[in-house]
Amino acid sequence: TDSAPDLSESLAALRDKAPILAKFEKAPLGVVLGSGLGGLADAIESPTIVPYAEIPGLAPSTASGHRGEFLIGHLASRPIIAMAGRLHVYEGHSLRDVTRPVALMAGIGINELVVSCAAGGLNPQFKVGDLVLLSEHSSWLDGKLGAPPISFQQPISFQQPNDLPNESDAAAKCFRRSLNTCDPQLDAIAHQTAHANGFELRRGMYLAVNGPNYETRAECRMMRQLGADLVGMSTVPELLCANSAGVRTLGISVVTNLALPDAPATADHADVLEVCERAANRLQQIVRAIATHGA
Ligand code: 6GU
Repeated sequence: TDSAPDLSESLAALRDKAPILAKFEKAPLGVVLGSGLGGLADAIESPTIVPYAEIPGLAPSTASGHRGEFLIGHLASRPIIAMAGRLHVYEGHSLRDVTRPVALMAGIGINELVVSCAAGGLNPQFKVGDLVLLSEHSSWLDGKLGAPPISFQQPISFQQPNDLPNESDAAAKCFRRSLNTCDPQLDAIAHQTAHANGFELRRGMYLAVNGPNYETRAECRMMRQLGADLVGMSTVPELLCANSAGVRTLGISVVTNLALPDAPATADHADVLEVCERAANRLQQIVRAIATHGA
């Protein structure tokens, strides 16, 4: 919200609660763990855990399956900072609040970010449980819910004052059209990992919507005709926030249910979590490979 303390106060609190941050010998990898994908958190070595609620300026995460804390440690000798749980627009958060934890990770100095999420599959070739790289995206998230959307943040809050000499530079950076949120090098590592471990990795266009309801049959048809392969309720703001801070990004969805007009049943949240658990191992292999590459 507009009364939130500025990011330097949040950063100071995080650094205070996680002294390990000062000892990191290289730029950490950032990871956002979506619904049911928190298993990766267990792979982080001797993590320092900092709940969002303990950092001024961060809203606590309330969606079920989301823990709402940072885990800070090492994975495959690489410093890592993971978000176990994220904030959603459907919880009533503004885009600024949703992106604040990511802005904080950018402020800490991550140079790469992997953002994971559950999504509905609109592409009829996708199967439940597939992993899909977000090669493209579109967002229908309602920026009018709460504070201004990220594109209007002035100045973009994760920048240190001396990084951006003035507000028009900040705005110019935010309004760039073709943010490449699918980093080619991270994409290549992900595909090599899939190949080496014998699982399939697909690509698709992710459409972000407010939710919290899933799509009607009519909406599924409409979204598919507009060229979307996946539909979900997150990820795009986080990718854009990190990307405009100069962080190289990769979005990965787990197809937790099919958003096809004639799909037999609508998934409930428990199904979503169950499918994510089965996909978590493959996701972890990809994140580990990216961590190793940058170690
Ligand atoms: Cl089918 N729709 C939306 N909007 N979000 C989802 C989903 C579907 N499945 C997982 N997340």
